Amino acid sequence: MNAASASPAGVPAGGAGVVPRHVAIIMDGNGRWAKKRHLPRVAGHRKGVEAVRATVEAAGEMGIGVLTLYAFSSENWRRPAAEIADLMGLLRRYIRDELDSLARNGVKLRIIGDITRFDRDLVTMLEDACTRTARNERLTLVIALNYGGQDEIARVARQLAVAAAGGTIDPVTIDAAMIEDRLDTAALPPLDLLIRTSGERRLSNFLLWQAAYAELLFVDTLWPDFGAAALADAVADFGRRNRRYGGL
Ligand code: FPP
Repeated sequence: MNAASASPAGVPAGGAGVVPRHVAIIMDGNGRWAKKRHLPRVAGHRKGVEAVRATVEAAGEMGIGVLTLYAFSSENWRRPAAEIADLMGLLRRYIRDELDSLARNGVKLRIIGDITRFDRDLVTMLEDACTRTARNERLTLVIALNYGGQDEIARVARQLAVAAAGGTIDPVTIDAAMIEDRLDTAALPPLDLLIRTSGERRLSNFLLWQAAYAELLFVDTLWPDFGAAALADAVADFGRRNRRYGGL
């Protein structure tokens, strides 16, 4: 059996010229980028937003269907309040400044994670942006906010347990598909490629379930230096992988 026939239906099997349908990125290294230049951390985050802009544009041009970005983890609340405020401010500004262009360029915005803890006005802004772009089909940009993979799976477990206790589902019928249907990423294509920048080699609680068969790529580039060229390199690397999904 070759790689193509071993892959589940509709999933890129790898091979030269294959563009992953779903790419996720752990955008790491903003602080180190700033430190190397004797700048405040927020300068690294600001430059990181420019990298987001460039990467989103490049993903659309390359025909990647879904780009999922880890913008704020459920553990990032442990950072100093001033840095959290900076990150929220940058997110607000990104949506305010980019929404027209995203909408015009066929980008559908989607949020994963539990944003109920965010300021009400920011939640409204994000929800409105998702609604306004809901019919776009060129690229789905998924922003992970207050997201944690363990929290996501725990929320699904709770939902299924409540349904089982209420008698609306039979617990013995719970399978992987039922879990997937309830994840924040429900209905998105399977994750093909997960990239982490800055040389760290950890998943840091990102897309734990979804990463089961994803190709992992760890690059030394700091996130503010990432962009079209680095994404093209990552896609070329993906094209050289041989995906077997447990087969031969
Ligand atoms: C990790 O770098 C980066 C973050 C925690 C935040 C990423 C956020 C942005 C790029 C801006 C907002 C996002 C969008 C989608 C507009 P780090 O600070 O942990 O770097 P370090 O490990 O070098 O300190």
